[in-house]
Amino acid sequence: MSRNLIDSIKLLKSILSKSEHLVFLTGAGISKESGIPTFRGYEGLWKTYDPMKLASVSAFIENPSLVWEFYAYRQKLIGECHPNGAHIAISNIQQQKRNSWVLTQNVDNLHERAGSKNIIKLHGNIFKVYCIHCGYYGNMDRNVPPLCPNCNNVLKPGVVLFEETLPQKEWTKAIELSSSCDLMLIIGTSLNVSPANTLPLYAKDNNAIVVEINTETTELTKLMDFSLQGTASEILPKIMGLLEN
Ligand code: OAD
Repeated sequence: MSRNLIDSIKLLKSILSKSEHLVFLTGAGISKESGIPTFRGYEGLWKTYDPMKLASVSAFIENPSLVWEFYAYRQKLIGECHPNGAHIAISNIQQQKRNSWVLTQNVDNLHERAGSKNIIKLHGNIFKVYCIHCGYYGNMDRNVPPLCPNCNNVLKPGVVLFEETLPQKEWTKAIELSSSCDLMLIIGTSLNVSPANTLPLYAKDNNAIVVEINTETTELTKLMDFSLQGTASEILPKIMGLLEN
């Protein structure tokens, strides 16, 4: 670990210990070391697959079986994965910062499984299903594609697809929390996808300190107060360790 990185981690520890309104914003990179592929960047899913054919509303209407093939594959993969040191470190930090929140773009439930509280799921939950015809919402069953128990239409995966808006209640709360936080830790997201990628701007408007933890630079690296370059599971447990000392 470089001298710079060690210094930045120490600086973050001191900022974190003073923070009273802490928000985490997480993306696919935090779950990479749990074995779940990211979407963009090196080995990202969207390098091999076309999101408009597999993860959009129009694709779902045109060919729900193909969309379900992709989501059933991801459900199985995610079901076999476990939270890593980064998810656990966030959950531990939350034990000390009880009014902190996790805003996540991930649909994998690994924050919950690591014991985090106060989670806003901006892009839904891959183990849920939704009926675009009658509004039924429930757990995924074994059938692929699953059918609605009320109206027998094919159910949609319980995630936000391209061409869909974010769930209103979650989005409103995410803006409220971002606009009132004093520290935002942005972990493992390329900040490519709107509207989630506008949340750091709300934090900045409130003069919050915004810090990025990522293996690469992102769309908003220049906006950050500082960036920690490295894997989430390497850096977050180090911050947690320092917080305990
Ligand atoms: P991306 O795949 O766009 O970005 C993942 C980010 O994680 C990149 O910036 C990587 O550099 C970084 N990264 C990779 N490994 C890492 C590690 N071990 N530690 C820290 N950072 C790491 O994922 P998101 O930004 O989450 O939407 O993508 C946003 C949305 O686009 C997703 O929620 C999904 C996708 O289409 C939906 O499914 C609706």
